[in-house]
Amino acid sequence: MNEDKKPFIILSAAMTIDGKIASKDGDPDISDETDWKEVHKLRTEVDGIIVGKGTIMKDNPKLHIKYHDHNGYYRIIIDSNLNIPIKSNVIEFNLELYPTIICTTENISKEKIRLFESKGIRILKSGSGPTVDIVNLMPKLYDSGIKSVLLEGGSTLNWTFIKHDLVDEIRLTIAPWIVGGRNAISLVEGEGFSKMIESTKFTVIKVKERNNYVVIHYEKAKR
Ligand SMILES: NC(=O)c1ccc[n+]([C@@H]2O[C@H](COP(=O)([O-])OP(=O)(O)OC[C@H]3O[C@@H](n4cnc5c(N)ncnc54)[C@H](OP(=O)(O)O)[C@@H]3O)[C@@H](O)[C@H]2O)c1
Repeated sequence: MNEDKKPFIILSAAMTIDGKIASKDGDPDISDETDWKEVHKLRTEVDGIIVGKGTIMKDNPKLHIKYHDHNGYYRIIIDSNLNIPIKSNVIEFNLELYPTIICTTENISKEKIRLFESKGIRILKSGSGPTVDIVNLMPKLYDSGIKSVLLEGGSTLNWTFIKHDLVDEIRLTIAPWIVGGRNAISLVEGEGFSKMIESTKFTVIKVKERNNYVVIHYEKAKR
């Protein structure tokens, strides 16, 4: 892939000490208000925010910016079959300030596309496989003026970005508790690498501790 045609990607997440980003019942409430303020500040500094369909289905987030002045940004949703509910917050809430782009595949029917477009949603097709071709999507986003994005999960989408070595930085909040549960999802799920040597490597660039929370910034390790 042409690295010049890829948005700068910051993976942003909050997890427990044991690496969970939601409880076994899907409770995602990990950040405290101070953390949200910092994450929303980061949102003001990028052109877009990317999340997967699972996050929309489970949490129905608005993906907006509170606490800070800003000019809005793109909400980018990865959804292979255009299955997110038409009444989702990313479709109904403030499209003028936060235009929504749904990235899908070539397999989608014209009727489905028309339905979403009639709500003011832009549809971007990438690949004709069973899931969205994320590598192929990068230059399309870049050419749409999206030069920097926050990747805000969930764990399945995080894996695709990690697998393809697309993450440039990570901002990770670690909450001071352990929630456990084999069905509670962790920061990155998906297939995973077989060996540690194959893993994607990062370097710590900043560590901050406050109220017993730890916030760590990483950048992609130099090869
Ligand atoms: N604590 C945090 O910071 C944080 C942040 C965000 C989310 N979360 C949690 O994460 C959970 C959701 O994570 P999740 O893993 O279930 O879902 P997800 O990663 O949000 O979405 C995954 C879905 O995206 C679609 N997709 C399409 N193309 C894809 C591709 N190339 N690679 C990966 N996914 C692709 C797939 O569904 P289709 O094939 O049907 O399109 C896939 O199942 C929620 O519980 C949420 O609370 C936590």
